[in-house]
Amino acid sequence: MNLDLEGGRKLATEICAMIKEKPLSELPGSPEVAFFPPFVFITEVLKASEGAADVSVGSQNIHQLEKGAYTGEVAAAMVKSCGATYTLIGHSERRAYFNEDDALLAKKVEQALNNGLTPVFCCGEVLPEREAGNHFKVVKEQIEKGLFWLEKDPFEKVVIAYEPVWAIGTGVTASPAQAQEMHAFIRQIMAEKYGKGTAESVSVLYGGSCNAQNANELFSQPDVDGGLIGGASLKAADFFSIISSF
Ligand code: PGA
Repeated sequence: MNLDLEGGRKLATEICAMIKEKPLSELPGSPEVAFFPPFVFITEVLKASEGAADVSVGSQNIHQLEKGAYTGEVAAAMVKSCGATYTLIGHSERRAYFNEDDALLAKKVEQALNNGLTPVFCCGEVLPEREAGNHFKVVKEQIEKGLFWLEKDPFEKVVIAYEPVWAIGTGVTASPAQAQEMHAFIRQIMAEKYGKGTAESVSVLYGGSCNAQNANELFSQPDVDGGLIGGASLKAADFFSIISSF
């Protein structure tokens, strides 16, 4: 909940102008970019990104049911019908402030996939869990309950975002070694469940105070495939610098 319509449109337009000038396919790593605006701005952000290749739009959330009388909620099919192709699922703020637990998030994953949206499934431990040495266990459980009920084919459509909660919006980034360690662990549990090929093909993003200064070192880690950027995405130049950091 950061910008209004005009601010969101301006930000997306500025970033897309940079991308049109320097196409993503010509940047190191040929990254893909997806914007995740609030529901009400999805259509406008899509319009602002017209003509910018490899840029897509997603929602920050969806409801866990297909349709019905749930006043105020937004279904995956509605998001899809606006032209969005991604949705975040289980961002730590949804887990913490809206009581979204793993069982509910599994239903949201199902809705996303049923409606042709790519779920970006967020996982990550809170500080006391890391301090107690439980971070691997916590992340494994979130992924097992949220995603590992999927068959191999639909699982391959998922993107995972590891976001240690203590790093989100705090300015405290996980060190590249901490990020790599967890990403390698996520890769390993995916390989155990679905095989090495699937584990290699699923993107695992890092999120949590990723910025123009630290992106390159984070993205250089072998198992860090990209980033989920919050605060630093609100400044077009910073965001463009991050997507140029592969
Ligand atoms: P941050 O946010 O980059 O500001 O830490 C990340 C997020 O909200 O996912």
